[in-house]
Amino acid sequence: MRILSGIQPSGKLHIGNYFGAMRQHIELQAENECFYFIADFHALTSSPDPAKLKANSLDVTADYIALGLDTDKTVFWRQSDVPEVTELTWILSCITPMGLLQRCTSYKDKVAQGLSPNHGLFAYPVLQAADILIYDSELVPVGADQKQHIEVTRDIAVRFNNKFGEILVLPKEHIIESVAVVPGIDGRKMSKSYDNTIEIFEPEKQLTKKVMKIVTDSTPVEEPKDPDKCNVFALLKLVAEPEELAEWDQKYRAGGTGYGAVKKRLAGLLIEYFKPYRQKRAELADNLDYVEQVLKAGAERAGAVARQTLSRVRRAVGLRG
Ligand code: ADP
Ligand code: TRP
Repeated sequence: MRILSGIQPSGKLHIGNYFGAMRQHIELQAENECFYFIADFHALTSSPDPAKLKANSLDVTADYIALGLDTDKTVFWRQSDVPEVTELTWILSCITPMGLLQRCTSYKDKVAQGLSPNHGLFAYPVLQAADILIYDSELVPVGADQKQHIEVTRDIAVRFNNKFGEILVLPKEHIIESVAVVPGIDGRKMSKSYDNTIEIFEPEKQLTKKVMKIVTDSTPVEEPKDPDKCNVFALLKLVAEPEELAEWDQKYRAGGTGYGAVKKRLAGLLIEYFKPYRQKRAELADNLDYVEQVLKAGAERAGAVARQTLSRVRRAVGLRG
């Protein structure tokens, strides 16, 4: 099955990204033909600092490689290295009703937050539709927040096919059933935009410091505690073996265990969990030329597919194919 997903290079990847998306992306490689890309055109809609945009794209790629991306099998590239996708975006824009985009909640939310929207932000879902359709993607694994964008993609593809014939492959969304939403150290959803993240490759001391800062309630050590309401326990679930988790569950409910003790164990487990990948990540940081080569090779493979689809589309709408 042809699987495709994109990730914005908007900052250092955190454990919410890992358990919510990256781990599944990596697992899906075993049985599928995977196409993953760095969505740097999309990132432009939030006006990033140019040097940061460039550096983040390489960092995210290095994170994926260190965490198990199979660079021979999976096609991994930087969106802007296959600019044909913007041409398809234009063609699709011309059959996309304004109302469809006006209903998009991620756009409406940003405007409601007071952001003054640019045209790119409004047209964001059309570029995403082009990303998906230009690679004949069959399945698009995304977090629940992206569900509407996949529906918009299907809507646009159906309109296109109705008008011009069966040219585009209709993708299915595949909502990643993550371990629910991973909480950040302040208890809100872990997100680059809230400055509450624990980065996957955070230096170990800093990681421990952050874990010790996770917000908990003020139940005294000796009293019973509810694990299901605890941010530390929610993170522990991601990395502890079931037997150990059951032990902590009992300790919480029995009382006599302080949050400090659980936090220390959590920090230890997180460090252990990502340890096998750290060495590789450090090597890649010293060899960004190699990371760049992976992206270039990916762009060649992705570009070959994109050009074929685009040629089909161009002919269908009456342009030179
Ligand atoms: P951020 O909110 O940090 O900017 P993105 O929106 O770039 O993260 O998300 C990239 C991927 O990681 C998406 O598939 C998203 O569903 C997933 N993800 C992000 N934060 C979390 C979280 N706290 N818990 C679970 N999944 C998450
Ligand atoms: N909008 C997605 C996000 O913010 C990133 C993205 C861009 C994407 N193009 C895509 C995801 C195509 C899946 C398929 O997470």
